[in-house]
Amino acid sequence: MAAPSGADNQEHWSGKFAFIMAAVGSAVGLGNLVRFPYIAGDSGGGAFVLIYLACVLLLGLPVLVAELMIGRRGGGSAIGAVVRLAKNENNSKLWGIVPAIGVVTTFLVLSYYCVLAGWVLNFVFLSVQDVFSSVGSGAGLGAVAYNEMTEAEISGQLGELVSNPWQMVIMTGLFMALTIFIVSRGIKGGIETAANILMPIFFVLLLLLTISSLINGNDAAALDFLFKPDWSEVDGGVILRAVGQAFFSLSLGSAMMITYGLYMNKDEDIPGSARIVAFSDTSVALIAGLAIFPIIFASPVLMESVLAEDPGLGLMFESIPLAFHQLPFGGIFAIAFFIMTIFAALTSAIALLEVSVAWFDGDIDVSAVQRRRRRIRGAIILGGLAFLIGCMNALSQVPTSVANTFFNTWEPLSFIALFDGMTILDAIDTLTGSVLLPIGGVATAVFAGWVISAQVAKDEIGFKKASTFTIWRTLVRYVVPIFIGIVLVYGAIIGPMRARADAGSEAAQVIEEMTTPSE
Ligand code: TRP
Repeated sequence: MAAPSGADNQEHWSGKFAFIMAAVGSAVGLGNLVRFPYIAGDSGGGAFVLIYLACVLLLGLPVLVAELMIGRRGGGSAIGAVVRLAKNENNSKLWGIVPAIGVVTTFLVLSYYCVLAGWVLNFVFLSVQDVFSSVGSGAGLGAVAYNEMTEAEISGQLGELVSNPWQMVIMTGLFMALTIFIVSRGIKGGIETAANILMPIFFVLLLLLTISSLINGNDAAALDFLFKPDWSEVDGGVILRAVGQAFFSLSLGSAMMITYGLYMNKDEDIPGSARIVAFSDTSVALIAGLAIFPIIFASPVLMESVLAEDPGLGLMFESIPLAFHQLPFGGIFAIAFFIMTIFAALTSAIALLEVSVAWFDGDIDVSAVQRRRRRIRGAIILGGLAFLIGCMNALSQVPTSVANTFFNTWEPLSFIALFDGMTILDAIDTLTGSVLLPIGGVATAVFAGWVISAQVAKDEIGFKKASTFTIWRTLVRYVVPIFIGIVLVYGAIIGPMRARADAGSEAAQVIEEMTTPSE
């Protein structure tokens, strides 16, 4: 018998449904449930949401189609696929650098994603504990959430967690272990199975929580906040964050969707699948807003604190537990909420790890048994490495008043204005979200639009109408590169440099005022 070629030996999705579940599972995650609501809150609410929707439609969707096309057409590994396609077009092999950077990007994202997911896991345990203690106290399940706790204790849970480095390391490790386990089982046995089980439960929980929030909450204020645009907050930085968030949420601009494209069968419909993925992901972000803000805004105190300050992660880990605290059966809702979030985070972390494991698997002909071994080894080594960087990220979150962990004072990239005052976790988040993903998106669009010939692209994507192909090609050739290029220069270079200069001149003024003797 002839030795199987790499392509024959590659695992494929077992069908359209499995692919969609896995891709939606990768897209829907902490980006929708945590990052989107708080960035929207910090960046002008409705105005940000509108800009975000435009970014998904005009930048995200065409790049998603491009990535799936590149992966399926090229085959092998993400880097191999791009190199092969470039060679076919008599272009430089150096294009392989783009997916190579993508692999590094997903790895970096994973290194802090697992920390935040660890926090969520911790809150799953906390919310379960709280309900059981209220049952134990005789108050029963119907009691108000967190029966045994005062509000101060509830809002202090996050502070307690970040003050406890070991707790964070253990939770991060637990989450990573789950992720490694699933990825090591391969495409069909691991990723697909996990997505097929976790995603349907996720959607049911999201629906139930949204309905209960709309019934119990202050819908008018939430709708105002999410959909009434305040254009005064919009500047280059906000537009860049919308672009970055769109790429982050759709898992684009790294090698991720190229990797998932590798496993697509030839008869699957790329434009149709891309539409479903983009639509589901965006709907989940908006619906999550409707699950979260009405119940937060039901309390005037919480509403004021969220609107007045940039809540950041406090939104998820302080405001939300407090908001559930006011609801009857709130404890149950809190459990449902954090379980839903951990499911979404897990299917995304699997995808993030899969990118580097697929690279580690290589692009060569080996037997199925060898492939399995390589996969297990790759998942453990790379997942372990991400966990180690994750520990540094976790230690950077410990308040300096509690302990000096070195990482909570270290600002590794602050010589660049964009990263002013950021410890490693925030620096990696901003570097990947606002720089690497948008640049990766531009490079992918240029590759798909300018390097790959129109004939090949048309043939592989299989748009039903010729005009759709023309629109797609115009978007990837011109709109994506030019628009993101401008936004990057303003948002990542000019804006932060101005801010730094302003801060500098303000400081100079203060010093001058202090040193000039008053009359
Ligand atoms: N999209 C996921 C989320 O919203 C995170 C994610 C998965 C991701 N794969 C990615 C982000 C690749 C960037 C690149 O949570």
